[in-house]
Amino acid sequence: MSVTTTTEYVEDVSPGSGALPPRAWYASSDAPSLSLNGTWRFRLSDTADAEDDSFAAPGYDAGGWPEVSVPGHWVLQGHGSPIYTNHLYPFPVDPPRVPTENPTGDHLRVFDLPDGWPADGGAVLRFDGVESCARVWLNGTDLGEFKGSRLPHEFAVGHLLEPAGNVLAVRVHQWSAGSYLEDQDQWWLPGIFRDVTLLHRPAGCVLDFFVHASYDHTTGAGTLRVDSDTDGRVSVPELGIDVPTGEPVTVPVQPWSAETPRLYEGVLATEGERVPLRIGFRTVELSDGLIKVNGTAVLFKGVNRHEWHPERGRALDLATMREDVLLMKRHNINAVRTSHYPPHPAFLDLCDEFGLWVIDECDLETHGFTEQGWRDNPVDDDRWTPALLDRAARMVERDKNHPSVVMWSLGNEAGTGRGLTAMAEWIRDRDASRLLHYEGDADCRDTDVYSRMYASHAEVERIGRGLDGGPRRRRELPLILCEYAHAMGNGPGGLADYQRLFRSYDRLQGGFVWEWIDHGIAHPGLGYAYGGDFGEELHDGNFVCDGLLFPDRRPSPGLIEYKKVIEPVTLTGDGRAGTVRITNGYDFADLSELAFSWSYEVEGEPVQEGTLSVPALAPGESAEVKLPAVPAGAPAGEALWTVRARLAAGTAWAPAGHVVAWGQVPVTERRVPSVAATARPVPGDGMITLGPATFDARTGAVRTIGGVPVTELRLDVWRATTDNDDGAAWQSDPRYGPLWRKLGLHRMRHRLDAVAAGEDALTVRTRVAPAARETGLATVYRWTSDGDRLRLTVSTAPDGDWTVPLPRLGIRFGLRAADRVRWYGGGPGEAYPDTRAAALTGRWEAAVDDLQTPYVRPQENGARIDVRWAELGGLRIEGDPAFFLTARRWTTEQLDAAAHRTDLVPGDTVWVNLDHGQHGIGSQSCGPAPLPRYHLRAQPAKFSFVFSAIDSVSPTTL
Ligand code: GAL
Repeated sequence: MSVTTTTEYVEDVSPGSGALPPRAWYASSDAPSLSLNGTWRFRLSDTADAEDDSFAAPGYDAGGWPEVSVPGHWVLQGHGSPIYTNHLYPFPVDPPRVPTENPTGDHLRVFDLPDGWPADGGAVLRFDGVESCARVWLNGTDLGEFKGSRLPHEFAVGHLLEPAGNVLAVRVHQWSAGSYLEDQDQWWLPGIFRDVTLLHRPAGCVLDFFVHASYDHTTGAGTLRVDSDTDGRVSVPELGIDVPTGEPVTVPVQPWSAETPRLYEGVLATEGERVPLRIGFRTVELSDGLIKVNGTAVLFKGVNRHEWHPERGRALDLATMREDVLLMKRHNINAVRTSHYPPHPAFLDLCDEFGLWVIDECDLETHGFTEQGWRDNPVDDDRWTPALLDRAARMVERDKNHPSVVMWSLGNEAGTGRGLTAMAEWIRDRDASRLLHYEGDADCRDTDVYSRMYASHAEVERIGRGLDGGPRRRRELPLILCEYAHAMGNGPGGLADYQRLFRSYDRLQGGFVWEWIDHGIAHPGLGYAYGGDFGEELHDGNFVCDGLLFPDRRPSPGLIEYKKVIEPVTLTGDGRAGTVRITNGYDFADLSELAFSWSYEVEGEPVQEGTLSVPALAPGESAEVKLPAVPAGAPAGEALWTVRARLAAGTAWAPAGHVVAWGQVPVTERRVPSVAATARPVPGDGMITLGPATFDARTGAVRTIGGVPVTELRLDVWRATTDNDDGAAWQSDPRYGPLWRKLGLHRMRHRLDAVAAGEDALTVRTRVAPAARETGLATVYRWTSDGDRLRLTVSTAPDGDWTVPLPRLGIRFGLRAADRVRWYGGGPGEAYPDTRAAALTGRWEAAVDDLQTPYVRPQENGARIDVRWAELGGLRIEGDPAFFLTARRWTTEQLDAAAHRTDLVPGDTVWVNLDHGQHGIGSQSCGPAPLPRYHLRAQPAKFSFVFSAIDSVSPTTL
């Protein structure tokens, strides 16, 4: 006997039944609406059919059920737990079947119609996003069911509404056939996570409408035509337009672009409804092998944005979406790929308003099928094609009226197949005004752009030069990197090198950093939780924390670096000639909105500041501008000009004075400190005194400098490996993190060979090497002094067969009291050899605690680059040459062992690293390793530090 259940729809490949056809989404009209967001009653079951549907009937008493917030995910509200997998399906792959264990949330909400709700006309109930499959009842009537988590679904409900006591019941299943199409790299988070709205539909209301607003750059005219399922009129008062729907009208306009997001307010009025329009005129085309908007090729300086909030998951409120857009604009980002699903529609309104190019991506990924060589991939199986077409249509119909959307993306990592081609054909037929994107199609049969992920610099350059070969269609297309620069943990490295390539070759039209924000979940015991922290049997750890923002939306150093690398104005100069070359890197805007200033700085201190008059250069133009004369009476020392481009007036996204771009032009070089070796080492009572310092006579270890106790000063080559050092398991290039550990660089031993107190120096000879290996570093510490200052010169020479670069090379030591640090060098944030573009040479000061970069999984962080001198804990340290400075209240070993921020417990010693070199960062947690020029090779090295005692930075005086 076979058992049939009422939940067969869960495993049905069809998109659902009962919902209305998709249509344009709009937030406001003069028809009444009622938000059904808020507190709902909730019941969780373990299986899809554990409970019957009696809860949906009016009169059901759910008074004993707990409550949840809608929009929301129940697993973030104390019911069940989130699961994180990258591409593995967290259930057996047997499409379209799903496990019996299928968490199912019954949601119940009783509502009254507001006073004045019209008695006539109809109504629709709109769900903007439910993961992954929902069945809906209103007042006991089954409305239908749907899948397609991040897409809207509407039901006609006018005939069912009562003035009061309406019972809305929604059964949500975590797993469904739809889950096979939603295998994006993110948390699996079931729930009604976007708005639920009841919309009144007056007789003669607007149904679907399509705003066609193109721009002809040769004439400066815009052509508007609004097609509407319900006839009506379209008016745009500012343009003097008042025409029937369906009728084109051409008028002079200012075009829309991400840089100049000019919108015109209009109204679509039918007999029953008035819908406000925001019209941006722009034309997107593929021409001369390039993506052009309004006749101009664009350069995408983009990010991949998942929707994320550390407490609310993908249930974002408007303020959070707005914060994302403002942060992007303030960091010079001009493009977003809505990885990997259409975002909350309000986000696209913000993109229209503030100006961001958008690749709108369909809610489709079947990545887990890669595990079985893509066998049974739904996108190559005709039974699934209706579901794929439904998803394409729901995206396109919903979002088609946004000028910011310049490309449709079929989805992400879904292999190839007939279903994708069917989607592409449908989209092209429906909307010829945008281009098509899909990265997974290596032949580019269905796409208008050659799109790649994580290609190396060398390959990108080959493609830029047109040397990449491949099918003809592909060779004729421009390249975008739909993902690159994996921003997991410390990094990404190499951004500046990519940008140089993008600027150099027209065919390279930029890229989208992976990704915008870390998906850490706020957790009372762990700081932020990542994969595995909820006991998942399969998970991908902290691979879910790979964003340019920390989960709380604080910018990580990666975002600061990106802002600098993609700045729209470049400022380079010649200090001796006293000139600065200013280049406008915008595609559309001139420089009239920017005000330029200069500052002449000596040893990091501004001596004089002023404004610089710069012509309103057109896009692509550059000019050489004379800097003022060097200020009279400027002190001697290392001097440079800092030139900044700021917003002259406030904009919608930043206040006046916001720095958009900057450059530094060196004038005179640094003088390196010299210390005459005039003091003699003086032995006595187990100690040796040399100038201001004392040493252990037996070991040669420094004990105090100017009375400041210094502990365990010695060579250090280890860093707590970064996610990029560790690399991803699938990488074929060497992953240095694991190799370093294999070699034992995290457990170096220090053998003392000799301590020699000579005429003018104390010399300590050692060999630094790990157990079990023949490789080591012959290391000599040579201490000299002029009586006041103490100079340490470290010489190292690799010994044995070193095949790997070093993580770092420098010294480390402990200081007892160091709260604040002052330095002259790169700042204010961290920088490594290939993440150093944003390091501004100047004087900086910070508390030790604020030098730490709070990566969700602790790892090497916080180095300040090119430090000429630093003061901390009663010591002044000058470098010859400049050095990397790191100071923290835990050891590297503790940092290395920590899995979450809360594992890091400050001790009473501040551990200071002064590094002569650091290995590059790269992006190997998903992409390429650091370029060879950023490798820290094991080779003979010599570097010095000059120490002196000061009291100005003691904790009591600062
Ligand atoms: C890509 C994928 C993204 C993400 C990224 C690594 O392959 O499209 O969703 O998984 O790798 O973080």
